[in-house]
Amino acid sequence: MRAYDIIYKKRNAEKLTKEEISFLMEGYNNSEIADYQISAFLMSVYFSGLDDTETFYLTEAMANSGKILDLKFLDGPTADKHSTGGVGDGTSLVVAPVLASCGIFVPMMSGRALGHTGGTLDKLEAIPGFNVNLEIDEFIKILKKNKFAMIGQTKDIAPVDKKMYALRDVTATVESIPLICSSIMSKKIAEGAGHILLDVKTGGGAFMSSYDDAKKLASKMVNVGKLFGRNMTAVISDMDSPLGSAVGNSLEVIQTIEVLKGNLKNDFYDLCKELSSLIILQTGTAKDIKSAAQLFSDKISSGEALNKFAAMIEFQKGNLRVIEDYSLFGKAKNNYNIRASKTGFVSSIQTRDIGIASCMLGAGRSKTDDVIDYSAGITLYKKTGDYVKEGEVTAVLHYNDAQYEYAAKLVSSAYNISDVEPQKIKLVKDIIK
Ligand code: URA
Repeated sequence: MRAYDIIYKKRNAEKLTKEEISFLMEGYNNSEIADYQISAFLMSVYFSGLDDTETFYLTEAMANSGKILDLKFLDGPTADKHSTGGVGDGTSLVVAPVLASCGIFVPMMSGRALGHTGGTLDKLEAIPGFNVNLEIDEFIKILKKNKFAMIGQTKDIAPVDKKMYALRDVTATVESIPLICSSIMSKKIAEGAGHILLDVKTGGGAFMSSYDDAKKLASKMVNVGKLFGRNMTAVISDMDSPLGSAVGNSLEVIQTIEVLKGNLKNDFYDLCKELSSLIILQTGTAKDIKSAAQLFSDKISSGEALNKFAAMIEFQKGNLRVIEDYSLFGKAKNNYNIRASKTGFVSSIQTRDIGIASCMLGAGRSKTDDVIDYSAGITLYKKTGDYVKEGEVTAVLHYNDAQYEYAAKLVSSAYNISDVEPQKIKLVKDIIK
């Protein structure tokens, strides 16, 4: 078998066999197949697609590139959530400690920034000293003690996703239903959680901008998860507007801490609550959705979720003092105010442009080896539906050495202002089981 022939077949939209897909993934994992051939494979999948069977084989081969954890020895339900990627979407940082404080084990394996969207791992690494690269033994040890730990793809768990994820990020091959499905589900299957909630984003800031594509992706992931015997739920949630008011790594962690302290209740908080409630219900930890939502509120107001988050920082060697002293995150040297071009309602925000601008300021990568500036990003003072006066500050850019001018243009033109008040955004649009 040769990689060339498999790429050729997929380029011509022919179906691949289980053996061909395994050959590519094993070869890539062992570095016998080069990045440039996998890049070509990814692009041919982007254009030619994979059917359900091929997607299952790809997910299986990616999960099998490392160990598959068996967490049945833990004395409680195991659950995880994963988002398909958004702008300002740091909900995992709130959901995981809330679930852990409800007695649910959360073995969370996340990804880095991808395209214009942020990544949980980069956000965690904004906490000085925080280690996302744990060995499996250490991961399990923390999981047993704290009920949750958050790590990245490792050389042991879904290693091929780690390599392919980085490649997709810089080869414009992210927005593909089978590639997103296999990337997410290989990690989720390998990390061993019994209950999985997927947050599939739709709208201008999502990889699946159309609702129909988001629904197809959600159904595909739910079906793949079920084939692996997992209890699956997917929500389709809004990404036509950035979530919350922070975009960028440190800014989003600070927003998380504010939510966990009970100081902040915005749309980011609302989505965290909806997602957590669904998992609490899914794992049988509450009898109905109302009591699940109440449990979420209780865990925030009692400080238990914050304590779990703090314990995770400590277990994973981060500087715990960030919880009280946000200056330890380091502040960007420069700020630039974006102002409203006219008076009226913010009728929409071009969310992808906000994500791109944040990357340009240093919060994301445009090459695999780019170094992230954790303090860079954007604070959104005005969101969709808000009333603004001409000249009022709508957003502030935070940056160090980046060229901010183009980012400023993008953010400024991302705000659409109209005389008519827009309809309120529905955060969760659908739930698929
Ligand atoms: N998150 C992932 O882990 N993979 C993707 O492809 C997209 C979002």
